[in-house]
Parts: sequence; C-alpha cells; structure tokens
Amino acid sequence: MAYESVRGMRDILPDEADYWTRLEATIRKIARRFNYREIRPPLVEHTELFSRGIGAATDVVNKEMYTFPDKKGRSLTLRPEATASVVRAYVEHGMTTQDPFQKLYYIGPMFRYEKPQKGRSRQFHQYGVEAIGSLDPSLDVEVISLAWSLMHELGLGGLSLRLNSIGCAADHERYREALRAHFAPHIGSMCEDCQRRYDDNPLRILDCKNKICQPYIADAPGSTEHLCDDCADHFERVKELLDQLGLDYVVDPHLVRGLDYYTRTVFELTSKDLGAQDALLGGGRYDDLVKMIGGPDTPGVGFAGGMERLILVLKEREEQVMEHRIDLFLVTLGDAGRTLALDLSNGLRGEGLSVDLDYRGRSFRKQMTQANKLSARYLLVLGDDEATSKKGKLKEMDSGEETEVALSAEEIMRKIEPLSD
Ligand code: HAM
Repeated sequence: MAYESVRGMRDILPDEADYWTRLEATIRKIARRFNYREIRPPLVEHTELFSRGIGAATDVVNKEMYTFPDKKGRSLTLRPEATASVVRAYVEHGMTTQDPFQKLYYIGPMFRYEKPQKGRSRQFHQYGVEAIGSLDPSLDVEVISLAWSLMHELGLGGLSLRLNSIGCAADHERYREALRAHFAPHIGSMCEDCQRRYDDNPLRILDCKNKICQPYIADAPGSTEHLCDDCADHFERVKELLDQLGLDYVVDPHLVRGLDYYTRTVFELTSKDLGAQDALLGGGRYDDLVKMIGGPDTPGVGFAGGMERLILVLKEREEQVMEHRIDLFLVTLGDAGRTLALDLSNGLRGEGLSVDLDYRGRSFRKQMTQANKLSARYLLVLGDDEATSKKGKLKEMDSGEETEVALSAEEIMRKIEPLSD
C-alpha cells in the first residue's frame, strides 16, 4: 500500500523549501533589528494551558485542537498557537523576576483541525513575536511597526491593517451585554454556532462567517463605544503614534479576534492577493494572560502570522522566483578524474564553495545536463589529462568564458567568489 500524508498536512518539497529558508532568514533579521530574542517552546503542552489561556468557548479550543491522552492518561494537545506556550515558559522559568520585560519571537509548526483550503491547513507554520512586561502604548506600536517592516523587507504591497480596541475585562462585560441586547431579537434566526456563542461569549458572534448571520452582525454595536477612560486613552495614544510613524491602519470596531485572551488593542493585516483566508497576521494585547496562567499580573502584546500564506503571496510575484544555484559542478571522466574530483570537492567545500559532482556513473553529456539543471555557476571537466597535468579549464557558465586554472582548492578559490550563504 502506498502511503499519503495526513489530510491538511503537507510536505514542503525542496523547490518550495528555498522560499521558506529565505523567509525565515528575513524574519530573524527583522526580529534582530527590533531586539526580539528567539524562544522555542515544545510542540506539545498540557491541554489545560490552551483551554484556560485561549478560552473554552473559542473555536480553536472547542473544535480544532489535536488532543490525546499520553500513556499515563494525561491530556496533552499539539499546540494550536504559541502565545500561551510562550507565556507559560515566561512564568515557569522565572523571567517574571529575573527580567520581567521580555521581547521574544518564534517560528514553528502549529496544529488546528480546520477544513483545509487555500491558505488554511491542519499543520501550518507561524512566526510570531511577544513583548511581555509593559502596558505602554508605544509597545503596541513597536509590534505593529515590526509587522510592517517585515512586509516592507519582503517587498509586499496591497496590504491593509485593521485595528481596534476591545478594552479591558470590565469593558468586555459591558460590550457583551450590549451585543446580547442587539442580537436578542434575531438570535432565533441565526446559525447554531451563534446561538451557542450568544450564551458563552457573544463577542465570538462577530467572527461568524455564516451568510445568514451577516445582516445582524453588520449593524451590531462596535467595541470602542464601550471602552473605559483608561482603555479609550490607550487606544487614542496607539493611533496617534501610528500616525506619527506614518503606519497605515483602518479602525474596524467589529474586529474582536478569535481567541479569548485579548484585551485593548487588536489588529489584523490582510492581503488582497489571498481570497477568503486573507489574514496574513493577527495579534493584540493580552494583559490578563500571564496572571491567568499562574504568573503575576503582567501585560503583554504580540502577533503571529501564517507562513504558508506569506509564501502564497510571495509566489504571486514574478521577481520573487527562487533559484537554487551551486558554485561549481565537477564533470568527471575515468577513475583518475573522479579521484581528483573527490579530493577537490572536499577541499573546496571546506573553503565555503557549494560543489557537486556525479555519483551515478553517468555519461559526459548527462553530467553536462545535470550541471545546467543545477544552474552551476562554474564547470570544470576532470579526466586523465587533467589528473596528470594538474591543470584544467574553469568555465563560467553564464558568459561561456574559460580560464586555465591549477587544480588545487587554493587556486580555484582565487577564481571563484562563493555565493553568499
Ligand atoms: P491567529 O489569528 O489565530 O492568532 O493566527 C495568526 C495567523 O496564523 C493568522 O492570521 C493566519 O495567517 C495564520 N493561521 C491561523 N490558522 C491557520 C491555518 N489553519 N492555516 C494556515 N495559517 C493559519 C494567533 O495564533 C495568536 N497566537 C497571535 C498572537 C500572538 N496574538 C498575540 N500574540
């Protein structure tokens, strides 16, 4: 029987992996510019971390988690997101006392049992940042600015940032009541999920994609009408600072995000190149999460973005087409040429050159085809003559130019500047 990968979990094959490597390098570069340090939490956590942290009424916890008992019957879950894990690590390792202000980032796979479609899979990858330990609105703006810088660095356009504030826990309570009052006359005609959400958490109704619910959602009250003075001031300051930095945004008073830990600022960056699953990244403040997870009262703000979606957008753009190139291909003829090639490749790789040769006893013509396929920048033919004279002709493939070279790693290195890693 031939096996297939699990539905919603894809292989990333070498041609595509080149995009991933480049994207990861860019994320790390931008994280460094903003002084965020990497954290790598495990993929599996105790289920309760997510049910408490993300909220039992959310779709993620309710429907989408990969949860299983371990051999001792403890309930474990493949992480559906990383904010709860990062906050757990922050509390567990005493960062709260060592240095309570931490700027962290992560890159890695997440798991959600969702219906797979373009831009949505069951194993997907996120990169994200979390800045924990300050309530300052300028930190919200730093995080948003980091997101914009990354998009800028990747050369992406056609993006829009939706911004909102959902206020503190007390504001949520008032907003929930206002939403219940608004939906009460219609809830009987709305979808089953919304009927459940009406009781559990009516904020979740605003995320509903079901067509029959849209007319009732469209004229629902906005969250900003229910902010306390502190939260309203915070939101004003965030907007002022975004204006000052020239960072674009549109206020969307219905943006509430799908996870329960959010407080105050929330935002989402969408791309018009993405269709239905258009959120490139999303985030916001979570001022109660550290406490909820058992740590001291510590605020936080961050975001995470889907890497599959970013790659989809990058691939749409011609100039982003990735090319896999090597520096040098050694074409070998006969045993002496081959021995020399093994020796040279070893030395040259040690000097930082990317080098390849034939391992399947292929003909001269086939080796040339292979060199072309690999887009080798240089080519060197090694046969009996070259093995005896220790001299060869180095061919630059783009120009077709040939230069004589002494066959030692040192001499060849004088002629070839390695492609940067
Ligand atoms: P989220 O909105 O659930 O937030 O996910 C963030 C991003 O991950 C989405 O905007 C999307 O790009 C991507 N994503 C989510 N689900 C999938 C999927 N099934 N397939 C492909 N991509 C997906 C969070 O996860 C929060 N932890 C973000 C955060 C960090 N908030 C504060 N700090």
